[in-house]
Amino acid sequence: MSTQTARTQYEATDPMPEEYRDLLIRLLRIQADTETYLLFPKGWAQYAHIANLAPTLEDRVKVAQYLAEETRHGLIAYKLLRDLGVEVTEQEFEGEHRNLYVFDKWLESWTEFGLFNFLADRVGRFQAEEWIDSSYLPLARVAPAIVRDETGHGNAGFYNLRRICKTPEGRADVQRLLPQWYATALDMFGRSDSRRSVRYVELGLKRRTNGEARQAFVREVEPLIRELGLDVPDVTSLRKYL
Ligand SMILES: [Fe+2]
Ligand SMILES: [Fe+2]
Repeated sequence: MSTQTARTQYEATDPMPEEYRDLLIRLLRIQADTETYLLFPKGWAQYAHIANLAPTLEDRVKVAQYLAEETRHGLIAYKLLRDLGVEVTEQEFEGEHRNLYVFDKWLESWTEFGLFNFLADRVGRFQAEEWIDSSYLPLARVAPAIVRDETGHGNAGFYNLRRICKTPEGRADVQRLLPQWYATALDMFGRSDSRRSVRYVELGLKRRTNGEARQAFVREVEPLIRELGLDVPDVTSLRKYL
């Protein structure tokens, strides 16, 4: 019962067109870039540092929960690649091999972790939402659980920032750090003029192009930034690419 709009769907072991496979592996490598960080020692060192900055014991437990969820995402991303015959190595998490620069920055403070959760984990949710009805069925299957976890991380970031913003010093600190983190989060969506991002949509690997997803993110996050009593940075400032 095929229709004109029905797309071809694939399992890992199905033969697939070369272009489809190349784009799929590229997409999964970018996912691995954000998610398999915690499968390697450098990622753990960063989050051991964060756990030790947690202001309360309850916050420390929440960091542990966060780590459990993100490490599981790492394993999922790793397995998705391995099932296609691609291995992820620790070297991919260094400098020029990285697709995203978001993890290059060492998180210094609890405030910075809050911004990271609020913005970068929220982008993680937007990315996973792209795959809910992906033509690559293994990706479609893992999407809902990742969306659920990343929704929790983004919300936790918002609540932590709200607590920090209750004092004038805290709010000033968030405002000072916000422009760079906002730009980094917006850059995570990739270039708006990417021809490849259009092909992802045409092949059913994603729902939206880079630019469309980024605009939806801006619409969601700007009112939240204002709710925190902060000034919204210009969407074009400090961006590495548009
Ligand atoms: Fe994640
Ligand atoms: Fe995340």
